[in-house]
Amino acid sequence: MLRNDRERWGAVARGLHWSIALIVAVQIPLGFWMNQVYRQALAGEADFALLLDISLVHHTLGFVMLALVAVRLGWRFSNPAPDLPAALVAWQRWTARLTQGFLYLLLIIFPLSGWAALSAYSGEFPIYFFGWDRVPRLVPQTEPEVLWSYEFFAWFHRMGWRIGALLLGLHVAGALWHHFVRRDRVAMRMIRGA
Ligand code: HEM
Ligand code: HEM
Repeated sequence: MLRNDRERWGAVARGLHWSIALIVAVQIPLGFWMNQVYRQALAGEADFALLLDISLVHHTLGFVMLALVAVRLGWRFSNPAPDLPAALVAWQRWTARLTQGFLYLLLIIFPLSGWAALSAYSGEFPIYFFGWDRVPRLVPQTEPEVLWSYEFFAWFHRMGWRIGALLLGLHVAGALWHHFVRRDRVAMRMIRGA
C-alpha cells in the first residue's frame, strides 16, 4: 500500500523516512571528514582535489535530501497520518510530536545553512550538484567581517548536529520505549508498516 491510512504508514512515507535517515547517517561523518581534510589541505598535508571530491558528495547528498524532505512534507499533508495509540497521555503525545516537528525543522535548516554558508563565503569555492559546480548562491557573497558571513551560517550548520543528536536520541528512545515497554505497534509500523 503506497498511501497512509489512519492505521499505518504507507510504503512512500516509510521509504522517505528511511532514505532520509540513511542520508543523514552518511552526511554527518562525511561533514566531519570534509572539515578535517579542509584543515589538512590548508596545512599542506592533504590534497585539495580530495577536498573537492568530498565536497561534491556532501553538497549533492544534501540537495538530494532537501528535495526528498520537500516531497515528504507534501506527502505528509496530502495523506492522513496514523493516530498514536489512544492509551497515550497528553505529555507523551506532545513529546513525540514536538520531537518530530523539530526533526523536520532541522532537516530543512541543515542543507539550507550549508548552502547559505558557501554562498556567503568571501572566496571562491564551488557549490556542487553532481557534476554541476555552479549552483546559484542562496544569499549574496559577503566579507568575513559582516554579520551575514560564512561563519554566521556555518554556526547553524555546526549547531545542527548537536541539537540533532539530542532530538534523535529522544526519538529513538521513544521508538524503543514503544516497542519494549508499551509493546504497541508504533515502532514496527514505521519499519514494516504492520
Ligand atoms: C543532509 C544535509 C547535511 C548534513 C546532515 C550536513 C552535516 C554536516 C556536518 C556534521 C558537518 C561538520 C560540522 C562540524 O565539523 O562541526 C558539515 C560541514 C559542512 N557542510 Fe554540511 N551537511 C549537510 C548539507 C550540506 C550542504 C547542502 C552543503 C553545501 C551546499 C554543506 C556544506 C557544508 C560546509 C561548508 C561545511 C563546513 C562547515 C564549517 O566551516 O565548519 N552541507 N556538514
Ligand atoms: C536521522 C534519522 C531520523 C529522522 C530525521 C527521523 C525523523 C522522523 C520524523 C520527522 C517523523 C515524523 C513522521 C510524521 O509524523 O510525519 C518520524 C517518525 C518515526 N520515526 Fe523517525 N527519524 C529518524 C530515525 C529513526 C530511527 C533510527 C527510528 C527507530 C529506531 C525511528 C523511528 C520512527 C518511528 C517509529 C516513527 C513513527 C512514529 C509514529 O508512528 O507516530 N526514526 N521520524
